[in-house]
Amino acid sequence: MLNTMNYDIDITKEPPADDTARQYYFIEKAKAYVQRESEELGRPLTFCVTTFGCQMNARDSEKLCGILEKIGYVEAPEDEADFIIFNTCTVRENANMRVYGRLGQLKPRKKKNPHMMIGLCGCMMQEPEVVEKLKTSYRYVDIIFGTHNIFKFAELIVTRFESQRMVIDIWKDTDKIVENLPNDRKYSFKSGVNIMFGCNNFCSYCIVPYVRGRERSRDPEAIISEIRQLVADGVVEVMLLGQNVNSYGKNLENPITFARLLEKIEQIEGLERIRFMTSHPKDLSDELIEVMGRSKKICKHLHLPVQSGSSRILKKMNRHYTKEQYLELVEKIRKNVPDVSLTTDIIVGFPGETEEDFEETMDIVRKVRYDSVFTFIYSKRTGTPAAVMEDQVPEDVVKNRFDRLLKEVHTIAAEVCAVHEGTIQTALIESVSEHDPSMVTGRLSNNLLVHIKGDKGMIGRLADVRLTECKGFYYLGELAE
Ligand code: SAH
Ligand code: SF4
Ligand code: F3S
Repeated sequence: MLNTMNYDIDITKEPPADDTARQYYFIEKAKAYVQRESEELGRPLTFCVTTFGCQMNARDSEKLCGILEKIGYVEAPEDEADFIIFNTCTVRENANMRVYGRLGQLKPRKKKNPHMMIGLCGCMMQEPEVVEKLKTSYRYVDIIFGTHNIFKFAELIVTRFESQRMVIDIWKDTDKIVENLPNDRKYSFKSGVNIMFGCNNFCSYCIVPYVRGRERSRDPEAIISEIRQLVADGVVEVMLLGQNVNSYGKNLENPITFARLLEKIEQIEGLERIRFMTSHPKDLSDELIEVMGRSKKICKHLHLPVQSGSSRILKKMNRHYTKEQYLELVEKIRKNVPDVSLTTDIIVGFPGETEEDFEETMDIVRKVRYDSVFTFIYSKRTGTPAAVMEDQVPEDVVKNRFDRLLKEVHTIAAEVCAVHEGTIQTALIESVSEHDPSMVTGRLSNNLLVHIKGDKGMIGRLADVRLTECKGFYYLGELAE
């Protein structure tokens, strides 16, 4: 689903001053180069964007794909593509290792194919050590850019075509938000929508504020108009994206709360479902809980990362809430938003975590009874305060705690899931089942999946489904009359 604008552009003239118009100018210029190469080759040039990391990166990749398609590239599998782009994540060390591994595998291919280009972007590129390493050991990479200037992608491609050298363009930070560039949505019926960029929280373990910069909210009008356009194109569900959506709008010229933004979005006719992530517990307001309680469109799902159950560790993590405050918040949410499904993120093995601290985490998991939990082993990120804290926990101790937590989380999740067996709920049909082509997979308001008999003609439709059997983390079901 390619969304784009049409500009009257003359590439024989100087580029226009307006940021959006300027990028459409470079898209036209790049198009001419791509056309020339594909005529030489006698076939279209192809691309593949591989995304690592979170939904923020997934949405950025849709923007990259949109620009590439507008330039004239055609999407292809990675092993055939002429232009390979890795949109990277650096939240944990193993994310970086995977990128270096994949990059190494591309070297022999790049030697054989003179038309091939490699582009690297995303959070990992915002780390100076990474760029240094690429400059010395991975000279065959063509374009390197960061998280603040993905809107310049077409311009960077033109620079690469014109210079034949490695192009590196990393910005430290920006307050620039460039609207209305092309993007290519992965799904026709649902879409992520950025409502803010960056993060100001500086949780002591986390690298995101350093690689994504300071918090910037988009204007509510720009968000609403984007969603209206999406709905006109057939989208029924949006996922509002931000590292901490609860602090949305605070720094706008005309401040507005996240809850108010949700109320405005709720009024968009034709939009059926609203999701959002991520919520930081410290900023989750009573106003938001109220709005969730009375909304017809906001899904009954809240991702509320707790990170640890120990107030002592939470303080060292710079999370600004205690175990007790978190539990009170959960109680308030459950009271006002019945049947809400709660999910969370937990880090095991933060520096100084003792057996008692870990038991507090097990305890909070038992008390909240999450629908699902993303469990992470603490990963030391250079430059963050936690990286230089004493008492880094030995690997075998962490592994042991991690396994115990995972077991507990799975047991509880299966029990929580079973509660809905036999009920009728609305599902958004998203895809043909991977395991059985005679089945389709739908997502319930609470984010759980259900498989029912059906075909691809049902994709994008909302259907009432009876949940006949709980299979642990998903359901088998049938269409309800
Ligand atoms: N803004 C979101 C999280 C973004 S990162 C939030 O605050 O919830 C997603 C998750 O990765 C975090 O919630 C955390 O659990 C995990 N994470 C972040 N840094 C980490 C690190 N250094 N080691 C292990 N897990 C980490
Ligand atoms: Fe990282 Fe904390 Fe910001 Fe989330 S809120 S991105 S965990 S610093
Ligand atoms: Fe990773 Fe960047 Fe997201 S570090 S988790 S891709 S914001």
